[in-house]
Amino acid sequence: MTTTTEQQQDQSAAVYLPHPRLVSPEGGRAKPWVSSMAEYEALYKESIAEPEQFWTRMATETLTWDRPFRHVTHGSLKNGDVAWFPDGRLNVAYNCVDRWALADPDRVAFVYEADEPGKATRVTYKELQEQVCSLANVLAAFGLRKGETVAIYMPMIPEAAVAMLACARLGLVHTVVFAGFSSASLAERVADARARVVITADEGLRGGRPIRTKAIVDEALQSCPEVEHVLVFRRTGSEGVPFSAPRDVWWHEAVAAQRPYCPPVEVSAEDPLFLLYTSGSTGKPKGVVHTSGGYLLGAALTLKYVFDIHEGDVFCCTADIGWITGHSYVVYGPLALGATSVIFESVPTYPDASRYWRLVEEHRITQFYTAPTAIRALRRHGDDFVTRCDLSSLRVIGSVGEPINPDAWTWYSEVVGGGRCAVVDTYWQTETGSHVITPLPGATPAKPGSATFPFFGVELAILDPTSGAELEGNDVSGVLAIKRPWPSMARTIAGDHKRFLDTYLKPYPGYYFAGDGASRDADGYYWIRGRVDDVINVSGHRMSTAEVESALICHPAVAESAVVGAPDEVTGQSICAFVTLKDSYTATDALTAELVKEVRTRIGPIATPKTLILVDELPKTRSGKIIRRILRKVVAGEADQLGDLSTLSDQSILEVLVNKVTAALRG
Ligand code: WTA
Repeated sequence: MTTTTEQQQDQSAAVYLPHPRLVSPEGGRAKPWVSSMAEYEALYKESIAEPEQFWTRMATETLTWDRPFRHVTHGSLKNGDVAWFPDGRLNVAYNCVDRWALADPDRVAFVYEADEPGKATRVTYKELQEQVCSLANVLAAFGLRKGETVAIYMPMIPEAAVAMLACARLGLVHTVVFAGFSSASLAERVADARARVVITADEGLRGGRPIRTKAIVDEALQSCPEVEHVLVFRRTGSEGVPFSAPRDVWWHEAVAAQRPYCPPVEVSAEDPLFLLYTSGSTGKPKGVVHTSGGYLLGAALTLKYVFDIHEGDVFCCTADIGWITGHSYVVYGPLALGATSVIFESVPTYPDASRYWRLVEEHRITQFYTAPTAIRALRRHGDDFVTRCDLSSLRVIGSVGEPINPDAWTWYSEVVGGGRCAVVDTYWQTETGSHVITPLPGATPAKPGSATFPFFGVELAILDPTSGAELEGNDVSGVLAIKRPWPSMARTIAGDHKRFLDTYLKPYPGYYFAGDGASRDADGYYWIRGRVDDVINVSGHRMSTAEVESALICHPAVAESAVVGAPDEVTGQSICAFVTLKDSYTATDALTAELVKEVRTRIGPIATPKTLILVDELPKTRSGKIIRRILRKVVAGEADQLGDLSTLSDQSILEVLVNKVTAALRG
């Protein structure tokens, strides 16, 4: 290993041009893994023309197999029976932890930036191995065996990753539930996943405010009698946290009784590693299933190439581990590469809007990955918060979760990246497991706002939404689809393979349907145009409009509701709910506030409607279907572009609707 000073010199030398529009970038001294468009094209071509050769090399170089695979891939998108490396066997925790703990025990696996500033700590690979092993022994002592599911509901602390890896060590399947979800949402997921054990913490801490994590778990478990054990990590040590032995067990007491070594359980590459619930176009969230081999390979390879990770790099992804971005790029990707990953517990504006940039300065972060909503919000605070910090260690800065507008892209590139860093706008989904459309630093000339080109092995198509025909050539728009299986794609929805087929594989047979609109411009660059289903994107979080509508309808005053996404300068979209009341209720501000609260408590703060409008009538067709298209246009301020209104049963309601929306949005 190089010394810190050498590393820092290397890092500052390894700069890539920010890829101004179609200007060729240059590599610095530490040569990027892919350093020209020609090199990217050659590798991409190989991945499509010679997939067996390409994926055999990648899977062998990147992962350590207990039993090497003989077959690379199996099945098709048409049949929905995809498998990768099906006869290969491995252990994910061994790959992520032991390989580095054995070779370089003092290497830092996690830098933990706690909510309280100035309290960062480090976890080495050796320490991580011991923690993962002890916890795995606790889980084994609960009687859990390979294939069973464990729910994790924890703050952004290293122990959350330890919990995930302890499951992986035993071949258990984890399902992490974002700790901002309500008790009802948690209960729904725990029950659907049939988890017998929940791992949690006494409390969370965000921006100095305590969160009653354990109390929320207790509320949830009132409707989950099948949960036998709750393992509680002591994060804040506050008094009065509810605790009921023998069901509840303190983490520190349980691990202290266990041996810090636990042999990894060999699993098939196709055995599930985790379920992750995400919103769909119906109210019920779906448990997307990812596998051990293909998923891990996808997470590791994309991180290596897209963020150009080299030895000694300190990678920081600000996503919560409750989302796929946290799974792939806080935990699995970085650890599978033996990199150092930063776990950030706080919020970007605590104690002030310099928090991210002080983090970069203090830990000499080399690659930084966040969401456009954070970029836009921080930009509003002014450049000083950024420029007062030393960001010279940064080489690649990434964006994920929603389209990044060119303005925000340019600010990120110029002010955060200092004009020296490559900006990677990465497009992917919970279901894709890892990046599918993305630039490669040092190779891809950027166009701000475009996610550019497909990653290796991803064969894209733009389809005509109505006929399903593939639109060939450049300069086309339609819906985005993928033409062949890739290793980290989701395999199914837990307990509902039919829903998996119906949602992703049947709409356009032979293709994976992503649910996003997209275009390919005259130069072949891909531009994502947003969801084409009833999913909206608030601050980079996927939210199902149907789920919010179902929460509203639970309130006794609500007759009907319709939820749409409204354009929002900071969060991309915001939730706008229209509600009609039952006859016996009167519209008041207090009732409006109560309905907003209803959603917040039922789903969680991330689902809070920004605008809730009580109306007498919703726009409907003659057969009684709500026409959401009209509501979307009205909230977007495009009431003059409503298009064909012939299906609207009562046109007289439009004027009232427009006036109400204008007043509400102004207020
Ligand atoms: C959107 C997050 C434009 C898209 C990793 C997708 C994006 C949904 C981008 C998946 C991007 C994600 N540009 N849109 N770079 N990245 N999206 O499952 O609509 O939480 O379908 O995964 O986010 O959200 P999910």
